Amino acid sequence: MQRIPRALAIAIVLACPILHAPALHSQDFKKQVIYQVVTDRFYDGDTTNDNPAESPGLFDSTHTNWQAYWGGDLAGIQQQLSYIKGMGATAIWVSPVVNNENLNCTSSGISAPYHGYWARDFMNIEEHFGDNTNSFTAFNSLVTAMHADNMKIIVDEANNHSNPDNCGEMGSLYNNGTFMAAANNDPNGYFHHNPDISNYNDRYQLQYYTLEDLTDLNQENATIDAYLKSAASQLQSHSVDAFRLDAVKDVTWGWEYSFANSVYNNAPSFLFGEWDQTNTSDPLYPDSYKFANNSGISLLDFPLNTAIRDVFASNNNFSEIDSTINTENANFTYPNDLVTFFDSQDESRLLTINDNQNRLQEAMAFLLTGRGVPIVFYGDEQYLFNNTNGGNDPYNRVWMSSFSTSTNAYKIITKLAALRAANDAVGYGAWKQRWINNDVYIYERQFFNDVVLVAINKNDTTSYPVSGLDTALPAGTYADYLSGLQSGNSLTVTAGSGGNNPANNYTIAPHSVSVWQYQVNATTPEVGSIGPRIGQPGMTVTIAGDGFGSTTGSVLFGTTAATIKSWSNTSVTFTVPSVTNGAYNVQLRNSGGTATNTIAFTVLTAKLIPVTLTVDNANPTNTGDYIYVTGNTVELGNWGTTFQTAIGPMLDPNYPNWFLNVSLPAGQTVQFKFIDIQANGNVIWENGSNHMYTVPTSGTGSLTVNWQY
Ligand code: NOJ
Ligand code: NOJ
Repeated sequence: MQRIPRALAIAIVLACPILHAPALHSQDFKKQVIYQVVTDRFYDGDTTNDNPAESPGLFDSTHTNWQAYWGGDLAGIQQQLSYIKGMGATAIWVSPVVNNENLNCTSSGISAPYHGYWARDFMNIEEHFGDNTNSFTAFNSLVTAMHADNMKIIVDEANNHSNPDNCGEMGSLYNNGTFMAAANNDPNGYFHHNPDISNYNDRYQLQYYTLEDLTDLNQENATIDAYLKSAASQLQSHSVDAFRLDAVKDVTWGWEYSFANSVYNNAPSFLFGEWDQTNTSDPLYPDSYKFANNSGISLLDFPLNTAIRDVFASNNNFSEIDSTINTENANFTYPNDLVTFFDSQDESRLLTINDNQNRLQEAMAFLLTGRGVPIVFYGDEQYLFNNTNGGNDPYNRVWMSSFSTSTNAYKIITKLAALRAANDAVGYGAWKQRWINNDVYIYERQFFNDVVLVAINKNDTTSYPVSGLDTALPAGTYADYLSGLQSGNSLTVTAGSGGNNPANNYTIAPHSVSVWQYQVNATTPEVGSIGPRIGQPGMTVTIAGDGFGSTTGSVLFGTTAATIKSWSNTSVTFTVPSVTNGAYNVQLRNSGGTATNTIAFTVLTAKLIPVTLTVDNANPTNTGDYIYVTGNTVELGNWGTTFQTAIGPMLDPNYPNWFLNVSLPAGQTVQFKFIDIQANGNVIWENGSNHMYTVPTSGTGSLTVNWQY
């Protein structure tokens, strides 16, 4: 094994950041740092759009009415790009940019869609954020500037709904200015017309009922299916790199597979969805990782969000974080693609729970060295918060009143963003707890020979002796990568170069974070990422990592080689070969034929079409039993008969009839059966021969059959 001495490795990193700059593919965000901006609350770059003619009277220049527009806009983000880039963020998640509800939604005061989640027209840009013609001009300008700075733009996309059904425009939806429907005027069935969701553990209610009065789009309607997919496609044509998908738990789950496939067919992208849940004991937690593992849509890491807030703000024990990560790492196929955060537009800020800047900085250091793609919520680096009404929405959506680059939080983010870019262990590495007590957490990230060891003591006053610490760092003395910014120290590893090397005993200081790292350039292929993770033959896919060599090698699906489109030492792009649909462990070989590891990829049969399958008069079920569909392609679970492998559970608002929207391969004749998976795991198959269905090549499909007794 060739090793670069640590001092030299650090010198190389410092001297030539370009050499180690992240690959920055839109298919792979693992080495990136996302900065989340609520556009209206960030910076007013264009005062001419503050009170636009299309929707006058919704603006409050005094920033005292928290439900009004305050003036932030796309031009403002562009004017603050050097501030954001200087922090080390490589991507910006902007709140929804589309044209929103124009009318006031309250009779007393102002209730305006400054947050962006009340769309009226998905095909153009909100006048408060761009200009009064709803043009893409300001948006294009921002994206061009960001791309020139090698930054990625993530747009928030809310496929679940238009705007409220009980005020203002009453849910009105437009297609680039042409009226389509409203909650009270919907002859073509573009919306569901059901009550508000009351049981957030009920799969049918979640997908088909109304989320907090927001007029619920019917994704199975062919017009709405095409509308939502072309809205995303249009944003991609304006060079959007990735999407944060709003409320994915409330949108028709099966349809979302086809949405993801549509996005990936257009261009390389990264998708992550808001599957709101508290922790890994949530009743629908198994549905969440089934969705993430099979849809190609990664998720915001809500269980870890809870654990970080509990531990750093509410002073719970570190075991809560440790067990959450271990559980999720066992359940998610791609845990490093989970998108991690501790603050957001939907919860009180950490500093509201505990006004302790050290704790915020420790949580930030944890997030940026932790597993998953980290999000910094705008303003946290300036310690902004407002405690009115418990600091909850809207008081968490503070005005960005300062842009100082000298706060400790800003500096810590800058340092650790550079580490994430430079050392593959952070983005691609495994997770290992090395030492833990209620206040201290020492964890290690490792990707082949790259190692990052992080030690946190969250106690504000107590130090602890640390003894018996082992690490994969080779023998040597390691300076704190944070240079003491959070009271860190150096560490000496006394012997060894294998996986368990003893470190000297030391005392961990109060409210401290130390980061020690070791990095080598790979000499054989080390695969850390694949994106997208699912697709049909012909789709463009990128594998990232290190040590691929400069000469083209091969990428194998079983024994079939993919056609290579580009090859570099850290990134290889290819098209999915024509192989049988199913799960593959893809192998990348260098030009000498050497491979080291494989990475999971799902080959679809063909592009996906949403189809609603209904089985009437199904086998009677008892509590805890559910009907599923299983069939002869990967899209139908390849005859799987368990919760995680069959397709479902189906939904039974009309029991004993069950239905489910499933994304199926276009133009293919598929075979399937309905099964009853009982609470104890027993499986009852329907009789007779397999059902057959030829999937349409475009639009949407549906089929209703009787259970075969
Ligand atoms: C979740 C978003 O994060 C939240 O801010 C929004 O209000 C709802 N979805 C509805 O779109
Ligand atoms: C077993 C089922 O009993 C049968 O009906 C189905 O066709 C096959 N699985 C598919 O392999």
